[in-house]
Amino acid sequence: MISTRLILVLPLYALGFLQIAIAWPSVEPLAARASPDPLDSWLATETSTALQGVLDNIGSGGANTAGVSSGFVIASPSKSNPDYFYTWTRDSALTLKCLVEAFVAGNTNLQQTIQQYISAQAYLQTVSGLSGGLATGGLGEPKYYVNGTAFTGPWGRPQKDGPALRATTLIAFAKWLISNGQSSLANSIVWPIVQNDLSYITQNWNTSTFGKTDLWEEVDSSSFFTTTVQYRAVVEGNTLAKQLNQTCPNCVSQAPQILCFLQSYWTGSFILANVGTSRTGKDTNSILGIIHTFDPNTSCDDSTFQPCSPRALANHKAVTDSFRSIYNINSGIAQGSAVAVGRYAEDIYQGGHPWYLCTLAAAEQLYDAVYQWNKIGSITITTVSLAFFKDVYPSATPGTYSSAYTPTTFANITAAVKNYADGYMNMVAKYTPNDGSLTEQFSRLDGTPLSASALTWSYAALLTAAARRSSVVPASWIDSSLNSTPSVCVATSATGPYSTATNTVWPGTPPATTTRPPCTTPSAVTVTFTVLATTNLGDTIHVVGSIPALGNWNINNGVTLSPAAYTSSNPVWFGSVSIASGTSFQYKYINQHADGSIVWESDPNQSLTVPTDCGVSTATINDSWR
Ligand code: NOJ
Ligand code: NOJ
Repeated sequence: MISTRLILVLPLYALGFLQIAIAWPSVEPLAARASPDPLDSWLATETSTALQGVLDNIGSGGANTAGVSSGFVIASPSKSNPDYFYTWTRDSALTLKCLVEAFVAGNTNLQQTIQQYISAQAYLQTVSGLSGGLATGGLGEPKYYVNGTAFTGPWGRPQKDGPALRATTLIAFAKWLISNGQSSLANSIVWPIVQNDLSYITQNWNTSTFGKTDLWEEVDSSSFFTTTVQYRAVVEGNTLAKQLNQTCPNCVSQAPQILCFLQSYWTGSFILANVGTSRTGKDTNSILGIIHTFDPNTSCDDSTFQPCSPRALANHKAVTDSFRSIYNINSGIAQGSAVAVGRYAEDIYQGGHPWYLCTLAAAEQLYDAVYQWNKIGSITITTVSLAFFKDVYPSATPGTYSSAYTPTTFANITAAVKNYADGYMNMVAKYTPNDGSLTEQFSRLDGTPLSASALTWSYAALLTAAARRSSVVPASWIDSSLNSTPSVCVATSATGPYSTATNTVWPGTPPATTTRPPCTTPSAVTVTFTVLATTNLGDTIHVVGSIPALGNWNINNGVTLSPAAYTSSNPVWFGSVSIASGTSFQYKYINQHADGSIVWESDPNQSLTVPTDCGVSTATINDSWR
């Protein structure tokens, strides 16, 4: 079956060589291409396999998720060598980022999965572990058991990219809620989670604080990937705050400093992925950072390392070239044609083979760049990016080539880069088995799939690269008011606020069920009151009762409920309050009209005793207005 695949792939490589052999720019771009493109047809099938592969790995309904709580994403079903049957904040956020994109682009089936993920993250933020608690560094904990329990074995921790990636994913969904008339849900459910993550970043981004393990979980040093995704998160977190009538002053104070620090990874010819290691620093860490901070509406800006920027293109060449001579499967592939790409050349983890997600990232950056050039209407080649361009377009010289004044050159360069990107996709296609499954790695010797099976992140990486190839792009995030750097970088930090995100009730989505481990009785329980009460505009439902937490029957001191999940068919009001375990009390709901007048529920009072069950720290009361 491999031979069939080779037949599909070879014509494209042959085309690549042909394009180099014949004199540019006289060749008309797409004219010589086989039609239909075999990559198009492979991707048509592979994207649906990949989407199913992602969904199979998300609890509680996924095919591979026995024992996984709702909304949790497993890294892979593999339980040994390597054991990836855990949920990583990074892998989960990147996966859901891809699903949110697909949802926004029209796949409405994904909404419930996204909402369950968000509810699960609200819960995970409250889980204390070896990295700390909510306000004490706990958000940097990289992985948890699949029921949300803290993993307390030895691990590279903390990892500071997780909160940033999660914030970016949640912000993308919040933007959709806002543009679909559901700002109140963005405010009540999403914002509290995002705010905690932003606080973690603004407090912990700088190099002087201890523990900064990079995305590969190995190196305790500053990491380009981490810094660049942190910058993005605080910028768009601040934008979201403004849209929701919230504020993030720490985002505003820290963003320019994070951007300032980001510049320090640039060596002049490539991005040094990790500062202070003995490695070369050429690492797909940087390409991943670039694709996950792509802004489709901006220029080829060097300071934010946009995919089409001279820096990012020079880096693409440096990183991908570092794999040309080290893998047998890359031998004989000419400069300017795509190769299999791994994490970094010195890698020995699970054999240190090429990775699907790294090879896909190399394609994705180039599709992003092509998108940006088309949008801007020109390509600028500088001395920094010249060597990159020469590989794929040998007659390249520094200058600006616009679609208006030099349309042939513009078209030929974009076609050459697109073709180069397709080469990386074809490399993945060539080494993907016929069932379309994607492991973590493929053999440097012969391309056999290796390491963790059905890696969720591999599937997500396939989906985003394929989307970019079809010019499907995520939302813009850059804010020009936070895009200039101070003249001197200072390793600052800004603390707080943190608060438990207790609201996780989405209209129409079953509440997240998190299976808790053996434990002690909590001292207090977060009690969520929900009441079905049909109300009129201007009405507000409160709950009042016989204990201080419920205002001691004083109508002004009860708990005000939220209508964020209210619909005419499910007129639910809800709100949460922390009450000591075992407390017995009476309560009633009241409806406060716009003019201040109060209507009480009918007698008798309702009664409740707060549970004292081991491990139960939340309780939900479901009432109907009487
Ligand atoms: C497990 C991590 O997931 C992987 O990235 C790392 O390379 C190995 N540990 C070795 O440290
Ligand atoms: C190892 C990778 O290096 C790391 O980035 C990832 O989070 C875990 N595997 C789980 O997929």
